[in-house]
Amino acid sequence: MERIFHILAISGSLRARSTNTQLLHAVAAIAAPAANVVVYDQLGELPHFNPDLDVEGARLPDAVSDLKAFVDAADAILISSPEYAHGVPGSLKNALDWLVSGPEMVGKPAGLLCASGRSLYAHKSLAETLRTMSANLVGNAVDVVPLDGRRSDVAAIRADDSARGTIERVVTALILAARSDLQQTHIFFRSSDAQLSSTTTLVRPALVASRTSRSPFGETS
Ligand SMILES: Cc1cc2nc3c(=O)[nH]c(=O)nc-3n(C[C@H](O)[C@H](O)[C@H](O)COP(=O)(O)O)c2cc1C
Repeated sequence: MERIFHILAISGSLRARSTNTQLLHAVAAIAAPAANVVVYDQLGELPHFNPDLDVEGARLPDAVSDLKAFVDAADAILISSPEYAHGVPGSLKNALDWLVSGPEMVGKPAGLLCASGRSLYAHKSLAETLRTMSANLVGNAVDVVPLDGRRSDVAAIRADDSARGTIERVVTALILAARSDLQQTHIFFRSSDAQLSSTTTLVRPALVASRTSRSPFGETS
């Protein structure tokens, strides 16, 4: 039986009606059964990053330990973020700062989405941060799904051919970046009318993620 592929999706917006968070929930709906996508919902609970607390042997705040364990348990990370004042939202940068010194992000396939077509700076800045953290920023998993001014609930995003195509390409790219055990694989997505469509792809070598006891993904095989 094939191992389930896990993606930790992190929204850079704390807004209850965030379009970036909605986009990630749509990714979760579209990605199944090819991948199990869990949307991280504890960004607002992380304490401010302080290097004095992030030292060898120190007991980390629980929310930080959870974040590190969730990232470690994921095969790939997918971030979708707004831009604030031409920059990355502080709460998202704060989360990334907690991950800088650990091993969890090293080599981890990472994708970047944005729900606004107007943002010019935050995406580039996030890409630079992820590369600096030695994440494996996957080129085909970086894109914009411009939901600006459009209805953006999960059903509407799933019904949008362009948005769904982008999401399927991003998820496929993340799976390919993380799979090392097959020469060829069929990647199945559920379309808006619940039919399964498949992408057949040659797989190139990469890493298989390690597992920790703290996992948001439930089943790990
Ligand atoms: C304080 C603030 C600053 C913003 N600055 C920018 C900006 O510099 N560039 C931009 O394109 N959008 C900016 N926006 C708009 C948001 O990035 C945009 O509405 C985004 O899609 C909201 O994402 P969300 O729906 O996930 O919260 C700003 C919004 C707020 C609240």
